[in-house]
Amino acid sequence: MSGSTIVVAGATGNLGSRIARTLVERGATVRALVRHGTARDRIERLQEFGAEIASVDLNNASEVTPACAGASCAVSALSGLRDVIVETQTLLLDAVVRAGVPRFIPSDYSIDFTRFPAGENRNLDLRREFHRRLDMASIAATTVFNGAFAELLTGEMPLILFKLKRVLYWGDADQRMDFTAMDDAAAFTASVALDPSTPRFLRIAGNQLSARELTAVVSDVTGRQFRLLRAGGLGTYCQLIKVAHTVAPGEMELYPAWQGMQYMCDMFRSHAKLEPLDNDRYPGLRWTTVQDVLSSHLASL
Ligand SMILES: NC(=O)c1ccc[n+]([C@@H]2O[C@H](COP(=O)([O-])OP(=O)(O)OC[C@H]3O[C@@H](n4cnc5c(N)ncnc54)[C@H](OP(=O)(O)O)[C@@H]3O)[C@@H](O)[C@H]2O)c1
Repeated sequence: MSGSTIVVAGATGNLGSRIARTLVERGATVRALVRHGTARDRIERLQEFGAEIASVDLNNASEVTPACAGASCAVSALSGLRDVIVETQTLLLDAVVRAGVPRFIPSDYSIDFTRFPAGENRNLDLRREFHRRLDMASIAATTVFNGAFAELLTGEMPLILFKLKRVLYWGDADQRMDFTAMDDAAAFTASVALDPSTPRFLRIAGNQLSARELTAVVSDVTGRQFRLLRAGGLGTYCQLIKVAHTVAPGEMELYPAWQGMQYMCDMFRSHAKLEPLDNDRYPGLRWTTVQDVLSSHLASL
């Protein structure tokens, strides 16, 4: 909706900058909340595409509240552990409520953790903890669930083993998983931010692919025959995650090895599959396939 003002926290980040840029392209005024001391060039990058900058201490409500005045939605794309996802987001939430902002989008952008028990995935538990506060606040909230960012398949998520020409999987080779390109997740979130009436949860997936289907896609893209590699059952994977957690706890790291393994394990579970999908909610959005993401990655090498 052209003319709206949207507050974006985390606009200097990977996803947040894409959301902010898309909002500006759609005619919205974007007020990017950046930390005091943010490097000049990072601020200039936001200003170049037309975002307004509000330099604030996100731990100080008296600075954040006035910066949110007049906005129709606050989008959080903050990333971090408890101090950020629970504490900083709570301060932001309180500030936007005080400023009279009617809508809030929390920094979730994940698998649908409402379908998982608490206590298994630390990073998702933090979001669950924040939701308990969010759901008590006098504000309408909408979470975007997008599965895994498709770009993770190019390296960070060890599913496609390019050198070995294998697709690694745990459990069931035919269990479909959700992948969404970051730009598509950002474009959908921008639409949600500009939509005055949205439900509590929205689910999107650019592609839903099983390990077996992924094998065909990566074979096609690379022109080389990839095969499946079954590492074991999900029970074994859970045990391995416990071992990895004990050996290298990395509690202060955002993505220690065991946390990445836990995300992957969750994706292989049948109840992780996002449904029903809200991909068609906004006409005009296009969905990038995993094939597209892998092709452009390989072309860039
Ligand atoms: N589903 C998936 O596969 C997937 C993958 C990756 C991320 N995500 C999710 O997407 C969201 C955004 O992640 P991202 O990768 O875009 O993160 P990112 O690039 O690391 O950006 C994080 C943003 O949060 C800000 N921030 C961090 N700590 C802060 C603090 N203490 N106070 C104020 N601002 C702080 C950063 O500001 P500075 O620039 O000042 O540091 C930056 O703007 C997160 O919810 C993340 O979990 C999902």
